[in-house]
Amino acid sequence: DYARERRRKEKSFNIAVFASGRGTNLQGIIDAVEKKRLKVNLSLVFSDKADAQALDRARKHGLETLHLDAKKFSSREEFEKELIKYLEKKSVDLIVLAGYMRIVGPDLLAAYRNKIINIHPSLLPKFRGCAGIECHRLAVSGGEKETGCTVHLVTEDLDGGPILAQAKVPILKGDTPETVADRVLKEEHLLLPAVIKDISEGKGKGC
Ligand code: GAR
Repeated sequence: DYARERRRKEKSFNIAVFASGRGTNLQGIIDAVEKKRLKVNLSLVFSDKADAQALDRARKHGLETLHLDAKKFSSREEFEKELIKYLEKKSVDLIVLAGYMRIVGPDLLAAYRNKIINIHPSLLPKFRGCAGIECHRLAVSGGEKETGCTVHLVTEDLDGGPILAQAKVPILKGDTPETVADRVLKEEHLLLPAVIKDISEGKGKGC
């Protein structure tokens, strides 16, 4: 009914972004939120690496950050249990893996089933399991004519969850893994905020 629909629209949609490194995808999300192209609440930026540039980017924009060192926990289960406490405190509706280089374990998957998305720098199902520049090396050395990026739901199947969106770029003569990475990254910065927007508006498969 109308009242319920209005309440749904008024309720803020809380996202947590997980990043292990540079954080340009995080920056893309921050920019989209600040320019009000994306109406979500960026509740938490989490990193498994204390020195991740992503954490500096988040702090610069006054966002709440969290770092947990998995090595300081006796098991992945304990690490994820602690992480889940923070996510629950922030009432996180969606977890966005943006250059998060750690496998999500069963506890986090169970707590946020169909509420975790990942961006991967290849046209999945091609090059499942690769990370960063390695994916572009595989595409260039394999003689691919095109590559791109994929946003998918995270399941126990590594890089194998349902595909939500893809963007393609050509691989041109003279390209190196680095030039391809730059071309793909530009698409990543558009694709990820667009998918988050759809999910937050109740469109698409996530949540
Ligand atoms: C991005 O290209 C992302 O697709 C990739 O890492 C890069 C992170 O860049 N993710 C993976 O390879 C996951 N397997 P960023 O830190 O600048 O956003």
